[in-house]
Amino acid sequence: MKVMENGLKDIFKDSFLTGAAVSRAILEQEAADETITRHFSSLTAENAMKFSLLQPQENIFDWNEADFIANYARRKNIKMRGHTIIWHNQTPEWLFLEGGNKVSKTTLFKRLENHIDKVSARYNDIVYAWDVLNEAIDTDSSDFCADNYFRNSEWFKTGGREIFEFAFKCMREASPKAKLFYNDYNNESGAKLDSTLRFLSSMLDAGVPIDGVGIQGHWYYNFPDEKTLRHAIESYSALGLEIEFTEVDISAYRWDEAKESADFFPAMPNERFLEQQQRFIEIFKIASEYKSVKNITTWGIADNYTWLGNFPVKNRKNWPLLFDEQYREKPAVTELCASL
Ligand code: G3I
Repeated sequence: MKVMENGLKDIFKDSFLTGAAVSRAILEQEAADETITRHFSSLTAENAMKFSLLQPQENIFDWNEADFIANYARRKNIKMRGHTIIWHNQTPEWLFLEGGNKVSKTTLFKRLENHIDKVSARYNDIVYAWDVLNEAIDTDSSDFCADNYFRNSEWFKTGGREIFEFAFKCMREASPKAKLFYNDYNNESGAKLDSTLRFLSSMLDAGVPIDGVGIQGHWYYNFPDEKTLRHAIESYSALGLEIEFTEVDISAYRWDEAKESADFFPAMPNERFLEQQQRFIEIFKIASEYKSVKNITTWGIADNYTWLGNFPVKNRKNWPLLFDEQYREKPAVTELCASL
């Protein structure tokens, strides 16, 4: 019998779970299955548990892909992060309409409660943490100021801040064992960090059941540095929150290169590759120094598929993950696995 060497999940088992975002198509690849078995102790459905995919029509649920992923996780004894309940993207049209008009606040609350109840009942044996609320803060809007940091989403326009509080309370009742998270991007520094801290501390003061903050971690080969990361972890920990890095990928491009043509790099330049590997090593090592960090999940497994292949530039190749296109481990994985 082939002896399995230690994978990331073994190396970090006393510190945090190691995870990846997946789809049914990915799980059906043999190499993905082997990589997950060796390295990952947590899975997130990249899309399958979002509102429009689970409930495309009112009260008509499509559990197919989410069940496939949950059953895979159950068979392999891997935990899942539930992603996501309230988000401004991937919501079905019917959700915000009622008799051809804008949905009323009361109806939206009822629809949300129904969704949470059904989804919880189906997955609360396997989902240990829910992203109850995703990306509700928008610091790029022209209306943004210290007291007005909410994204002007359909959810917010109809339900206000109250619907966010309600979602956490409902989820706590429906899935009492699950950890409840607020998840966002760019929330490790600057205005987004400040607004998130303000938002979360006011929610906690109001007695809203929030256990943790998800730092998505859609990062760059040259960002974030160690100081930024530590400051974010320490700031959220000071509120008594758990922290999970929920969607980590490390782009080969800088954000200001977003407008370059689709064939910007034919292959990842070596200096950037080396920096990227350093970033990955740093993130895992720093995280392991804090008890409050409970999960590091990458947004995909290997460079054969990443959402960054279409964002922010369509059809631009990127190499942001821990495994290459053939599922071979990159140096960061080798080095981290040798570290114990
Ligand atoms: O499934 C349809 C397919 O039938 C159709 O032919 C095809 C044509 O465009 O689209 C497919 O749907 C796409 C879906 O991914 C599944 O691949 C959508 O167009 C596409 O918009 C969608 O993108 C997802 C994106 O969220 C939506 O905003 C990405 O896969 C997913 O990685 C991304 O994930 C988000 C997190 O949930 C929240 N944080 C940011 C992160 C990255 O944007």
